[in-house]
Amino acid sequence: MSLVDEVKSRTDIVDVVASYVDLDTSSRNPKARCPFHTERTPSFYVFPESDTWRCFGACATGGDVLAFVMKQEGIEFREALHRLADRVGVKYSQGDANVQSDVAPKRTVVEANEVAARWFSWMMLSSEGAAVREYLTSRGIDTEIAERRGLGFAPGEGKLTLAGHLRSSDVTPTSARDAKLVIQTDDRTWRDFFRGRLTIAIKDRAGKVIGFGARSLDGSEPKYLNTPQTSAFDKSKVLYGIDWAADSMRQSHRAVVVEGYMDVITAHEHGFTDVVASMGTAVTPDQLKTLSQIVSSGDEAGEVVLCLDSDAAGQDATLRALETAWQEFGPKLTGSASSRGRGLVVKVASPVEGKDPDEAIRADSWAWRRSLDEALPLIDFIMAAYIRRFDVSGGEGKARVAEALSPLIFSVDNDYDRDAYWEKLAGLLEVSPERLRSMASRPGARTFRPRARSGAGSDDSSISTQQLGAALSGAEIGIEEHLLALVLQHPELREFAEAVPAEHFLGTVNRELFTQWVRIPTLDEMLLALGPDLADKAAKIQSVEFPPSDHARRVEEATQCVRRLRERYMRNLLRLTEVALKEEENSLEGEEREQLRSRVLDPSDHLKKVFQAGATGRV
Ligand code: UTP
Ligand code: MN
Repeated sequence: MSLVDEVKSRTDIVDVVASYVDLDTSSRNPKARCPFHTERTPSFYVFPESDTWRCFGACATGGDVLAFVMKQEGIEFREALHRLADRVGVKYSQGDANVQSDVAPKRTVVEANEVAARWFSWMMLSSEGAAVREYLTSRGIDTEIAERRGLGFAPGEGKLTLAGHLRSSDVTPTSARDAKLVIQTDDRTWRDFFRGRLTIAIKDRAGKVIGFGARSLDGSEPKYLNTPQTSAFDKSKVLYGIDWAADSMRQSHRAVVVEGYMDVITAHEHGFTDVVASMGTAVTPDQLKTLSQIVSSGDEAGEVVLCLDSDAAGQDATLRALETAWQEFGPKLTGSASSRGRGLVVKVASPVEGKDPDEAIRADSWAWRRSLDEALPLIDFIMAAYIRRFDVSGGEGKARVAEALSPLIFSVDNDYDRDAYWEKLAGLLEVSPERLRSMASRPGARTFRPRARSGAGSDDSSISTQQLGAALSGAEIGIEEHLLALVLQHPELREFAEAVPAEHFLGTVNRELFTQWVRIPTLDEMLLALGPDLADKAAKIQSVEFPPSDHARRVEEATQCVRRLRERYMRNLLRLTEVALKEEENSLEGEEREQLRSRVLDPSDHLKKVFQAGATGRV
C-alpha cells in the first residue's frame, strides 16, 4: 500500500480537525467556525463518511485530511503526509514516500553518477588509462576531445575501484547500488559494474549524468555494456547527445538520429550539431515525442531524420518500430496545405556505402550531408523496404505487400496525400490503383495499431485506460487519471487543463500530481519534486496507452474530462450543501437561514451554467 493510502486509512479526520479547531461534534457532521476565515456562525463542516471537510462560507474550500493539514499549517504535501504518518505511527524513510520500497530517488542516483563520471575521466588521464587513450587516438579522438565529450576509463583488475572511490566520496551505498554503478557478488562483496572498459557518460538534456555506456577494448562481449534501468535511466527514453544537440535542433527544426555513441561524437566534432543516438535500437515513440517537442517549436513543422545502419534497414524489428513511428507521427504528416501549423515529418536516410555514420563522416562528410538531404519520407521508405523484401512479381507477393501497407495509407489524414500514396504503391506493385484498392484491407477489417511499446504487455507499469479505471475505486476517479495521462503525455494540452481548480480532483494523490503539474512546467523537474511514491504513480499514469488519436481529438478529450470533473465537483458541492442545510434549517432563524440558503443556491446556479455549457459544447 502506498504511504498516502496507509496514512489516510489510519487517520480519523474528525480527530485531526478537532486538534486544531473547536469542533461541535453533537451532530452527525461536526461543524465549527471556519479556521480559514473570520466568521460569526459556523459554516465549516467535516463529513466523516467521505473523509472530507468543506467551508460553505467565504473561503468556499474543502478537501481531505491532507488538504486540511496543508492549509492549516501552511506546509507542502509531503510534509503534511509525514506529520500525519508520525501521528498514526506509520513508518516511512526520509525522502521516500513509499512504505515498502527504499529505492534512491533520481537526484541521488545522478549525484553518484556525477562522481563516477569525474573518476572515470581521471582514470583515463592517469597512467592507468594509457591503453584507452591509445585506442581513442587510433579512432581519431585525442585526449582533449575525449575529456570534452565525457569519455573515460573504468579500470579492470587492480586496487583502484569505483566502489572504493564512491565510498570515500560520501556516496551512500544505496545510491551507488541504485545507480547500478556497483553490483553485489555471490560472496556478498560489492564490485564495480563497469570493468576494463572505455566509458561514455550519458547525459540528460540539462547535462546531468544519468547513466553510462561502456565499450570493451579487447573484443570481449558485449561490445557495449550499458547502465541497466534505474530511477534516472530508461533506455527507451534516452537520447545520447541530447544535451549537445537540443539548441541546434530547436534552431534548425531538424533532429538527426543515429544508432551509436561514436557516431554522435564524430558527427558533433564535424559540425553536425543536431545529431543524437537512439541507444542502438530503432527509435522509440518516447524518443520521437521528445524530439518532436524540440524541433517543432514555433510554427514551423519539425523534421526528424533517422539514419539506420545498413544491416538494420530491412530487419523486422526495425520495420515494426518504423511502422509504429509512422502511426504516431506520420498520419498527421504535414507539409501539405491542409495541415495545421505544427507537426513532424519523419524521414529515413540511407547509409552511405554500408558505412556507419562515424566512418561515413570521416571518409566524406559532404556525402553524409547529402544523404541527410536526400532522406526519404518515412512511408516511402517503408514501402521501398517491403518491395525489396517480398517478391512482388507474382500475385501472392503483391497481395501480401498491399495487405501490409494499406493500413498505413488508410491512416493518412489528408485526401490528396492518401491518393498520391495509392498511386505510388500501385506503380511499385505494377497494378492499377483500382485493382490495388480492391486488394487492400479496409480500415477496421484489420485496423492498424501501434504495437505495444517494448515489453508493455507484460510490464505492469503500463496499463490501459480501461484497466486503470477498473483498478481504481470507481469510474469517477478514472476521469482524473484520464486527464492527468493526457496532459502528462501531451504537454501541448497544458492550456486546456491548467486552469482547473485542484479541488476538482478528489483523489489525494491525483490532486497533488495535478497541483505540481500546474506549478512545474517540465516533466523531469516535476518528477523530481514529487518524490518516489508520487513519481511512481505519475510514471504509471504517464505510461497509460491510448488508441491512436490526433491533436484535435485529444483537445476534445481533455476538454470533456475538464467538464466532467467540474460537473462532478458542482454536484458534490450541492449534495454536501443540502446535507449541511438540512441539519441547520431547524436551528437557524430568519436572516441566517436565508444566508445559508443563498449559499446553496449559488453553486446550483453555477451548476446549471455548467450543464448548459455542456449541452452547447462550450465550457
Ligand atoms: P554498433 O555496434 O553499431 O556500435 O552499435 P558503434 O557505436 O558503431 O561502436 P563502434 O564504432 O564499434 O565503437 C550501435 C549502438 O548500439 C548500442 C550502443 O549504443 C552502440 O553505440 N549497443 C551496441 C549496445 O548497447 N550494446 C552492444 O553490445 C552493441
Ligand atoms: Mn561504429
